[in-house]
Amino acid sequence: DGKYTVTLIEGDGIGPEIAQSVKDIFTAAKVPIKWESVDVTPQLKDGRTVIPQEAIDSVTRNYVALKGPLATPIGKGHVSLNLTLRRTFNLFANVRPCKSIAGYQTPYDNVDTVLIRENTEGEYSGIEHIVVDGVVQSIKLITRAASERVLRFAFQYALEVGKPKVRVVHKATIMKMSDGLFLRTARDVAKEFPQIEFDAELLDNTCLKMVTDPAPYADLVLVMPNLYGDILSDLCAGLIGGLGLTPSGNIGDECSIFEAVHGSAPDIAGKGLANPTALLLSSIMMLQHMGLHQHAEQIQTAIFKVLAEGKTITGDLGGKAKTHEYAGAVIKALN
Ligand code: IPM
Ligand code: MN
Repeated sequence: DGKYTVTLIEGDGIGPEIAQSVKDIFTAAKVPIKWESVDVTPQLKDGRTVIPQEAIDSVTRNYVALKGPLATPIGKGHVSLNLTLRRTFNLFANVRPCKSIAGYQTPYDNVDTVLIRENTEGEYSGIEHIVVDGVVQSIKLITRAASERVLRFAFQYALEVGKPKVRVVHKATIMKMSDGLFLRTARDVAKEFPQIEFDAELLDNTCLKMVTDPAPYADLVLVMPNLYGDILSDLCAGLIGGLGLTPSGNIGDECSIFEAVHGSAPDIAGKGLANPTALLLSSIMMLQHMGLHQHAEQIQTAIFKVLAEGKTITGDLGGKAKTHEYAGAVIKALN
């Protein structure tokens, strides 16, 4: 029927409500996509957290998935499902753009950053053990192979979106071996891309400079090891108004999962109060990735129009609209 099938992982808490907004808006915009909803409730297999085989098969078959928030247990319990998904499908590059939104006032304007986070190793390798009582080790695993893969992706991404420069963010002054390897690999990969400028910056300095004046970062693609990317991407989100407004895409060679990075907000779940913008913007990244550029443009323009008008926005943005009223306003703004 000429339609693409996309796996939908609605997620926990507010997940189903914000997913509904995406579905309604996509239907109204006649996006040629059929959703295949899957359940990713974790199962324990040989002491390891795994996601149900049907979910794995669905993503593998469709190549593309959209995902809402999944709750992550703190300090104990099963491995984060979010990470399990990234690992299961080898989604090695996590792309996190942050762009100022007209109409939503923060102390910054014209923020336009792109952060690419290594998504499979570093402190997220999950290798931890107790040495003796009161002493633990958590391993930060860095390999040349995974570094090279994400770095090459970052340079290619810069070429595609027309950013002149790639900057590695690191702390090789302290993490001499792990970040040192990442940085050396970056210098090697940079030689393959003479059209793209390359430099490096210490993570703490990046944080300082970015909150002082984010404007110079608009010309860059930032690339870094996993945990730095986790933290710095929240900082970037903070510059434009928080995780309710920022998209993300987990990209692999075989498939990709686009997701909202915010939590499942159990306190407001089921009340129709959630802001679906982050998931919507992630779904727009997904459309771009699939080559459905016109639909992506059309929906994005409608969203930014509604946000700029500021009349039908959700409570977190200072408005009074319910989730479905906001989605309704976006639908009206499509043309
Ligand atoms: C993110 C989140 C995840 C992470 C959590 C939910 C496991 O914070 O996507 O940034 O730490 O990567
Ligand atoms: Mn995070």
